Amino acid sequence: MKSRTLVFKSGDKDFEAGLSRAADIIREGGTVAFPTETVYGLGADALKADAVHKIFKAKGRPADNPLIVHIANADQCSELAEAISADAIKLMETFWPGPLTLILKAKDIVPDVTTGGLNTVGLRMPDNPVALELIRRSDTPIAAPSANTSGSPSPTTADHVFHDLDGKIDAILDGGATDIGLESTVVDMTSDIPTVLRPGQITAEDIRKCVGDVRIGYADRTLEEDEIARSPGMKYTHYSPKTKVILIEGQIKDVHKAMTEIVYDCHKEGERVGIFVTDETAKVVNADETYSLGKRNMPSQAARSIFMGLRHLDDKEIDLIIVDGTLEKEGIGAAVFNRLRKAADRIINV
Ligand code: TXA
Ligand code: MG
Repeated sequence: MKSRTLVFKSGDKDFEAGLSRAADIIREGGTVAFPTETVYGLGADALKADAVHKIFKAKGRPADNPLIVHIANADQCSELAEAISADAIKLMETFWPGPLTLILKAKDIVPDVTTGGLNTVGLRMPDNPVALELIRRSDTPIAAPSANTSGSPSPTTADHVFHDLDGKIDAILDGGATDIGLESTVVDMTSDIPTVLRPGQITAEDIRKCVGDVRIGYADRTLEEDEIARSPGMKYTHYSPKTKVILIEGQIKDVHKAMTEIVYDCHKEGERVGIFVTDETAKVVNADETYSLGKRNMPSQAARSIFMGLRHLDDKEIDLIIVDGTLEKEGIGAAVFNRLRKAADRIINV
């Protein structure tokens, strides 16, 4: 049976027409997946409740988890949000278009389904020409979570989107692999001090340099039921392959030793093991499947391949994925570890 999901590929001669068709779909209340500089988003008209409902349905996303609204020019901000502080404007001027989402007080025009019933809204101007052009041609802000099945690793290629959502959404704009590979930094601007709710390429230190003060408001784990989540997304399991994941952190030699021992023990039980490692570790530890995130001191390279790698290993016939925790944690490395820790069923400190 032919899929009902249209795919338009950047570089193909019908892409221009595809982009206009995708904008028509958004205007008519449909769903379109599109590339951003971070990960692929699944978009719908942010101001149409019925359209936004379709996003939740396609992803299987919990209704109280709000969506980020994507805009293409700064004027759209004042249509959607109010009480925008001088600090918020400074951050927009410094980092937009770019991988930064600002949580602001929402205006009534934003439907409850978009905000997950909160009185705030997350806004971001993506730094990707296809995304910006789609928003412009749709002539409306576009609500878009990552375009994956809820809970699974975020999509960094159109193939990932197709794998998760084929037949469940109206169209996919294929703009190739995303640049950054990790979702945007989310900063709550409604608290007295800007508070980072999700780490990303733009670090807390970058925010502090811009506005003077910043607080960390996230934990590198899924919150327990009785903990208060400042961002509803913190309550839900994320980035998880179906295969069990163990993350090992500690000194390099100790991590290598622990990894080797676990592989040995699994093999004794007749189990197959995949390892998710740095190039350096790949030279020392052997397993049935190996996926390298690149050099230990290149966390930006790891960011680009983390979700691809988790999906790759999850497709293999293995019983366990062991994640090598020796990657450097500087800069975007902190965000990579946030995702790795959340993906892990178990974290072992050696
Ligand atoms: O890079 C990105 O941000 C990608 C691309 C597509 O733009 N989008 C993305 O969306 O990662 P999503 O829905 O997968 O993650 C949005 C996160 C969730 O953890 C959500 O709870 C939080 O942002 N969020 C959204 N609106 C919020 C609000 N008003 N208050 C607190 N947290 C909010
Ligand atoms: Mg997501």
